[in-house]
Amino acid sequence: MRDTFLVFGSPKIERPEIEEVIACMESGWLGTGPRVARLEEEFRGYKGARHAVAVNSCTAALHLSLLAAGLNPGDEVITTPLTFCATVNAILHAGAVPVLADVDSRTMNIDPTCVESAITSKTRAVLPVHFAGRPCEMDPLCDLAKRHGLKMIEDCAHSIESEYKGRKTGTFGEFGCFSFYVTKNIVTGEGGMVLTRNEEDSIRIKVLALHGMSKDAWKRFGDEGYKHYSVIECGFKYNMMDLQAAIGIHQLHRIESYWQRRRDIWQRYNEAFADLPVRLPAAPDPETRHAYHLYTILVDEEKTGIGRDAFLNAMTRRNIGIGVHYLSIPEHPFYRNAFGWKPEDYPNAMRIGRQTASLPISAKLTDRDVEDVIDSVVQIIS
Ligand SMILES: Cc1ncc(COP(=O)(O)O)c(C=O)c1O
Repeated sequence: MRDTFLVFGSPKIERPEIEEVIACMESGWLGTGPRVARLEEEFRGYKGARHAVAVNSCTAALHLSLLAAGLNPGDEVITTPLTFCATVNAILHAGAVPVLADVDSRTMNIDPTCVESAITSKTRAVLPVHFAGRPCEMDPLCDLAKRHGLKMIEDCAHSIESEYKGRKTGTFGEFGCFSFYVTKNIVTGEGGMVLTRNEEDSIRIKVLALHGMSKDAWKRFGDEGYKHYSVIECGFKYNMMDLQAAIGIHQLHRIESYWQRRRDIWQRYNEAFADLPVRLPAAPDPETRHAYHLYTILVDEEKTGIGRDAFLNAMTRRNIGIGVHYLSIPEHPFYRNAFGWKPEDYPNAMRIGRQTASLPISAKLTDRDVEDVIDSVVQIIS
């Protein structure tokens, strides 16, 4: 057994970002400034998007996108029950009504037929999550959005590198929202980004992210002379700092090598677990690129003789950090009480949420770490 605990999702931090953070601190300009502008521009280029605005989390990105989508109180937004609470909370913070549509049991992504059944006269937007880095079925989803006049806001927290039929996730709809949280494919500590198709949307998001102050208010302490700003709406404090962007700029340069490392780990897990009585993640579909953000196995007690929670505890006892992505949204008391949602009404998400366990897959893992994870899983399950 390992003698040190393997932290789940620990990021790989290398010299260039450490030095960039030091340079940023020495420059004295820690807040939103030139390094944020550089990260926005490089991320926009990587994704081939029209506009990019950096914010301090994906939660903020989702919230501001929903506001910029022009939702009114009572408008409905359809999303998945197999997601982090932030997705649903952002809809609520924007004053809209979340509506859940179950996932496909194989892909674990929102099922377009369930989306179609959930559409009412009040539906204004659809918010798919590219779960684990696997792109959603964008053809039917975009078709539905077009036919029903819905805005599309993509939650790309897991899917920076993903593509569907040659097109990059986060560029299908009006808004694409990304996370650079510590466990994500690239990190800034806390951090996020919004891609937009229209310039007006990106300007509105930039204004909303900094108190509703007019564009470029962050430059007011620069060397070009004091600039007055106007508050043009009631905004939020969601801007990214240069200190965060200093990390992200260098992480972004390594995004493809980190992707390859996670793909190798994914393949090694597939080989090692091929004969175990657990369900492994479905292979990526043709004409798509998976971001390999999570490697999730399903532990069904009837087949394995051990329940999911007992499996989690057994892994932790062997010093392997493990995650759960996710208990389905209706399992949480807040949503049950507020909306009367029941897990059984979304049976695929419920079953996955009760059986799923995410194994470490960060680019930081050494070959020894990967073999330690494998040995533990094999010992517990076989
Ligand atoms: C699917 C999904 N959406 C949204 C978020 C929120 O991201 P952030 O922590 O950057 O606000 C997360 C973060 O874990 C996530 O996994």
